[in-house]
Amino acid sequence: MENKSRRAAVLGHPISHSLSPRLHHYWLKQYHLEGSYEAIETQPSKLAHTLNALEREGYAGVNLTVPLKETVLSLLDKVDPAARRIGAVNTVIFTEGRRVGYNTDAYGFRENLRHPGPGKAVILGAGGAARSIITALLEDGYDQIVLCNRTFEKAQMLAREFACGAVAWEHRAEVLAGCSLLVNSTSLGMQGQPPLEISLEKLPSTAVVTDIVYSPLETDLLKAARAKGNRVVDGLGMLLYQGQKAFELFFGLLPEVSAELRKEILSRQGDSA
Ligand code: ATR
Repeated sequence: MENKSRRAAVLGHPISHSLSPRLHHYWLKQYHLEGSYEAIETQPSKLAHTLNALEREGYAGVNLTVPLKETVLSLLDKVDPAARRIGAVNTVIFTEGRRVGYNTDAYGFRENLRHPGPGKAVILGAGGAARSIITALLEDGYDQIVLCNRTFEKAQMLAREFACGAVAWEHRAEVLAGCSLLVNSTSLGMQGQPPLEISLEKLPSTAVVTDIVYSPLETDLLKAARAKGNRVVDGLGMLLYQGQKAFELFFGLLPEVSAELRKEILSRQGDSA
C-alpha cells in the first residue's frame, strides 16, 4: 500500500462513548503508521452529506454504529455478500470513486469465540446483533440454531430468513438442553439495563457461553456459567476483532489483538462511561 497518511472515522449518534478511536489509535501507534481515526457525531439524516464530505476529503473509509449500519445501505455502490446477508454495514471503504460496504461484526464474533460447530447454538435476542451472530454461526458449521426472543414474531421472522428454529422467551431455560453454545445478543445485563434472568440448570457442562455485552466485562450470565464450570467468552473480544478487520480494510495491515490491548481498552473504558 502507498506510504501516505490515511484517515478513517467512526460515525454514529450518539458516538462520544465509542471505544473505536482508542482501539485504532493504539494500533496506529503500535505499527508506527501515519494515520488518524476520529469519532464524528452523525445523525441518520446527515449521513449522505457526511459521507460525501469525507470521501471528497480523501478519507480511506468509515465505521458505522447503530442506527447508521442500516441507513447506509442505500448510499453504497457495492455491498459485500456477507454484509448483504446480515442486512447491515459497519465498515465503508472509499476506493476509486466507489463506496464499498462490509460487515466485520460476524468476523469479530467468530474470531473472539473460536468455538466452531457442528452443534446446537441458542441465541437470546433477535435484533441487529443476532443477525451477524447467526451469519457467523452458519459459517462456523452449527447445524441447529435456535432463536429465543421476548417478541416471538421477531424470532420467527429471523428464523424463517436464516432457516433456524424459534422458541418463546418463556422457554429460554428449557431450550438450553443439549446445546453446545449459548449467546446473549440482547442488551440485558448491560450496565443500566435490566438483568438477564435465566436458569442455567439445563445447560450442559461442555457448553460455551458468550455475551455481546462487555460492560460489565463479566455479566451475571457469564458469572453464573463460570460458577457452573462452563467455558465463558466475554464480549470485549468481539469489539476488538471487528476493529481488527476494519483496521486492515482502512490501513492495509491486520493488527494483533493482544492481552495488552485488552488491558489498555479496559483501563480506559471507565473514562468514557
Ligand atoms: P441490537 O441491534 O443491538 O441487537 P436491538 O435490535 O434493539 O439491538 O435488539 C435488542 C434485543 O434485546 C432484542 O432482541 C430485544 O427483544 P425484543 O425484540 O423483544 O425487543 C432484546 N431486549 C431488550 N430489552 C429486553 C427485555 N427487557 N427483555 C427481553 N429482551 C429484551
